[in-house]
Amino acid sequence: MKTYDFNFQLGDIHNRRNHKLDRILNKRFKSTGNAPSSKAHWNAHSFGLENIELYKNLNAKEKDLLLKELSMDRIQEAYHIEKSGIAYGSKMTLLSETMDERVLYGSFTGDEARHFKLIEKYYDNSLNNDITDNCFLNFLSQMIEKAPKRSLVFMIQILLEGWGLDHYSSMANECQTQELKTDLKSILEDEVVHHGSGVILFEENELTKDERKIVMSSLASFFQMVQVGPISIMTRLESMGLELSRENRISALEQMNAYESTVYKLNVLKRLMKKSGAKGIIEELDHLGHLQAFSTEQMAACF
Ligand SMILES: [Fe+2]
Ligand SMILES: [Fe+2]
Repeated sequence: MKTYDFNFQLGDIHNRRNHKLDRILNKRFKSTGNAPSSKAHWNAHSFGLENIELYKNLNAKEKDLLLKELSMDRIQEAYHIEKSGIAYGSKMTLLSETMDERVLYGSFTGDEARHFKLIEKYYDNSLNNDITDNCFLNFLSQMIEKAPKRSLVFMIQILLEGWGLDHYSSMANECQTQELKTDLKSILEDEVVHHGSGVILFEENELTKDERKIVMSSLASFFQMVQVGPISIMTRLESMGLELSRENRISALEQMNAYESTVYKLNVLKRLMKKSGAKGIIEELDHLGHLQAFSTEQMAACF
């Protein structure tokens, strides 16, 4: 039996750098070094905040601080996702069963390294970059580390990279920093290919019982994170020193159309799975109730 012992050290590899390679990597990726911005990269509308009374009541300085923090949350997430992308491409390159697959995944690894270097320019190194509290990033790294190849094609390329297309494209369209907007659009061009090849490679019928089991349990964890609504934005809002009652939370969620935007996200994900022909998987997820958004009341109880 073949065994693979992968340890991608996704949690904290970013803390270990070799500055002897700076010059060559900067040249390779034409990196211009850090491009920190003194302003937020996205406005209140982009985070769904503009109609929330609690947000409107903040003073200009507080609004600015909140938007900067939320912008940095997006950059930080993208930074770790691209870092995970390099590990994913590397694993799939090694596990390739044909030369064509190996060339494909080898090129993906290079793409993800380029994406990482593009996003790194906007990353604030002084931030606490401990990601152990981030459910999504932990889920992603665990999956890349442990899941078998065919389960990963579905979870990473079809679902998450497809989802990334939608997410990165609104991030690019709404971005207020021209250089970042251009970088996000350039990442998107590669992600179309990453997602598209997943759709071509995946066949639901080819999944073994174990591979399918892993897909279903990964989907259950991931969909729960989507169903609960925009919790991270609400948590940031609360961190502005606001004591929120249950009613306050429900009103804020209603004012940001949290239920509708969650239904929209779930539909995007359903469409992505449908495109890959994963009929049985969708039916099972639907049956388990994972394709339904939580009510605003349920969302308010989750943070
Ligand atoms: Fe990427
Ligand atoms: Fe990708």
